[in-house]
Amino acid sequence: MASTFGAAQVLVASNRGPVSYEVGHDGALHAKRGGGGLVSGLSAIGPEAGALWVCSALSDGDREAVRRGTGEKGVRMLDIPAAVHADAYNGIANSVLWFVHHMLYQTPLEPVFDAEFRRQWASYEEYNRAFAEALADEAAEGAVAIVQDYHLTLVPGMLRELRPDLRIGHFSHTPWAPVDYFRMLPDDIAGQILRGMLGADRLGFLTRRWAEAFTSCCDALVGGLGGTRIGVHGLGADAEFLRRRSREADVDERMAALRAEIGAGRKAIVRVDRTELSKNIVRGLLAYRQLLADRPEWRERVVHLAFAYPSRQDLAVYRDYTAEVQRLAQEINAEYGTAGWTPVVLHVKDDFARSLAAYRLADVALVNPIRDGMNLVAKEVPVVSDEGCVLVLSREAGAYEELGEDAVVVNPYDVAGTAAALHEALSVGAAERAERSKRLAAAATALPPERWFLDQLEALRG
Ligand code: F6P
Repeated sequence: MASTFGAAQVLVASNRGPVSYEVGHDGALHAKRGGGGLVSGLSAIGPEAGALWVCSALSDGDREAVRRGTGEKGVRMLDIPAAVHADAYNGIANSVLWFVHHMLYQTPLEPVFDAEFRRQWASYEEYNRAFAEALADEAAEGAVAIVQDYHLTLVPGMLRELRPDLRIGHFSHTPWAPVDYFRMLPDDIAGQILRGMLGADRLGFLTRRWAEAFTSCCDALVGGLGGTRIGVHGLGADAEFLRRRSREADVDERMAALRAEIGAGRKAIVRVDRTELSKNIVRGLLAYRQLLADRPEWRERVVHLAFAYPSRQDLAVYRDYTAEVQRLAQEINAEYGTAGWTPVVLHVKDDFARSLAAYRLADVALVNPIRDGMNLVAKEVPVVSDEGCVLVLSREAGAYEELGEDAVVVNPYDVAGTAAALHEALSVGAAERAERSKRLAAAATALPPERWFLDQLEALRG
């Protein structure tokens, strides 16, 4: 009898895949490849060894690629109907689950779990089911499947029913909400999410803190973890890649351009983020304004380089936030700028080479999220920095667990405290700065992406 099982031995599932497509003017499809921990992890195994990445088509170009059958080897893109995907991704994953785990609601008015929410939830279930079915089709007997993130919380449970022979993992790249905040979700939905995740053999988190929050939710709401194991894997920076890439010619060119924008003899406070509500860019600008007000000695002697790259622009609240970042930067420049000095240099066009250039020349890196699963910028800057950089770091970032000791630590809501921290960071002497940066770089690279992924695989197989 022919086997009903697929051929893949190791499967990864995530909303966003390693490749995206655009239809060019000539009608041809152009592929763009992404980076990140999973890409290095899976490429260590390779399609020849039976690795498969299941992801969703996200754009018209992606859908066209699926229709034309132009797939990359080792990637299966799911052509989930655009309206279902929009409800699941924008409506539930990014407007509800992301808000819950990052504690972003302004609670007097939101959230509101009404009939529209229930309608979108049905799409989230459908989208999760499409992933579970694709994984079930593709997996060889006894294969390992590792499901990623809050978009796909129901997949482990669904997949377990379809394929009890598989070893199933799930990894959360976000924080996990404290139980009292998580309980804002309707009881049945909260239970469905937790039980969905507990369909996995093993659940991975970026820090102990998020793993403990998840465990508390299970204890309070579904009677504990059952047989599911929990692991912590603190994804580190890819030192080898970053050091090589940041020394290429395009990065040198951008450094020269940035130096000209900053002006000779001035220090640079650098931040690089997606324009993301949880990144706290607005309070970062308020803290910088406070620094200029409280410490006039820094006027004309420092520039805040803020790179805020567009993200999730389908959501009005993200568009409004982007506009507020731009408005505030202009306001600070109007208030304090002089003929030869622009206090805030804001760039919104995503440019990886320029981000690396800013990492290299930063005197201070500002990483002040309200709440963040890890925050890789905090880990990347010290690795790439030319002369060492002082890290101002939020205690609410996952990276704080590993980097807190050598950073200047802030409460992200405390704007006056962050202004004082910026002053302290700007005042650190060259030798201490280099020493701290060296220790930060060592901690930041303790678990390289490939190892991070292989550890999870071994733990599931073992
Ligand atoms: O932190 C969760 C996460 O999914 C990351 O893996 C990723 O960097 C980020 O959010 C980007 O989100 P999106 O795919 O919505 O742009």
